Amino acid sequence: MTYMVKKLSLPKFYFMFTATDFIPNPYTSTIENGNFEWSAPSNIALVKYWGKKANQIPANPSVSFTLNNCKTITKLAFSKKDTSALTNDFSFDLLFEGKPKEDFKPKIQKFLERVEVYLPFLKDYHFTIDTQNTFPHSSGIASSASGMAALAMNFMSLERKLNPEMTDDYFYQKASFLARLGSGSACRSVKGNVVVWGNQANIEGSTDLFGVEFPYTIHENFKNYQDTILLVDKGEKQVSSTVGHDLMHNHPYAERRFAQAHENLDKLIAIFENGNLDEFIKIVESEALTLHAMMMTSMPYYILMKPNTLQIINAIWKFRNETQIPVCFTLDAGANVHVLYPENVSEEVLQFIQGELVVFCQNGQYICDKIGSGAIAL
Ligand code: DP6
Repeated sequence: MTYMVKKLSLPKFYFMFTATDFIPNPYTSTIENGNFEWSAPSNIALVKYWGKKANQIPANPSVSFTLNNCKTITKLAFSKKDTSALTNDFSFDLLFEGKPKEDFKPKIQKFLERVEVYLPFLKDYHFTIDTQNTFPHSSGIASSASGMAALAMNFMSLERKLNPEMTDDYFYQKASFLARLGSGSACRSVKGNVVVWGNQANIEGSTDLFGVEFPYTIHENFKNYQDTILLVDKGEKQVSSTVGHDLMHNHPYAERRFAQAHENLDKLIAIFENGNLDEFIKIVESEALTLHAMMMTSMPYYILMKPNTLQIINAIWKFRNETQIPVCFTLDAGANVHVLYPENVSEEVLQFIQGELVVFCQNGQYICDKIGSGAIAL
């Protein structure tokens, strides 16, 4: 008699994080003063985060390429306050490119208030935060992702001094968790080339609380993927991302949009594995246009694209049709265009950009970037 032996496949259990996991136990060490310095890159979303719930929880999951050249470099100097000087206030100076910058302070103040429960040492020290970007100021490139990520890394370096037992996993997860509380997309600027943020059933370990490295195979086609950022409009945006997210509440298409983001992320799992660039392009361009469609169909409605944004999009479509070169675009919440393409067509695409797209850029400016791997301790 033979028996069929059925292989039991046990369900896998993943640790489900909650925000309280990031409230530390009493610290075991002390430190009086010192400084740290981290760089953190910007990132460009392929599936977009647009809409959020309370406490910076995203309404849908997103995935991004980490950038390499566009980054913020932040130095954090800290010294313990005299016990007599202990007040119930945060104490910090904020320098931008070495000079005091008062108008950045409210954003940092708000960040400190949001993260205080997770970093209970914050009121014990006076901090000097000295920050600079590698990309031109007011280039229209959002520095909140790289800026908040760089700051979060520094605070985690300090927390690691107070708790030397801390594991690397906890260090990076909590850094991303804190960065998220500063600016949602910042949680994708901490670690990894391709980062997922938001709970997605088919992506193991994905969570709304912090960004995780995309955990499956990524095809060679995406290695060193290029992102040339065309600076179409360097002015202040008329509507901030924070306001834009808010307009997704009571938005007539919100629920369908959130479902679509899940669908697109699922499709990307297969595309990252098989390297199908035609399918990749469809998702990425559709996501960019959907993001802007959500803005145009908000109440109040608004448009962040400029005439030159559309000129560039049309020129990219024409070039792609004529040459079959797999170049595509994506947009963030602004008029600038990110031109995405594989490394092996760099020469042709750069020639195309210089020959046909630069005319649409403000002062002919663009930035060459590519996929990178996250924050670096300096
Ligand atoms: C369009 O992360 O800047 O770039 O959480 O309010 O700081 P806040 O918003 P933010 O939103 C970015 C939106 C986006 C898409 C994306 O990066 O996923």
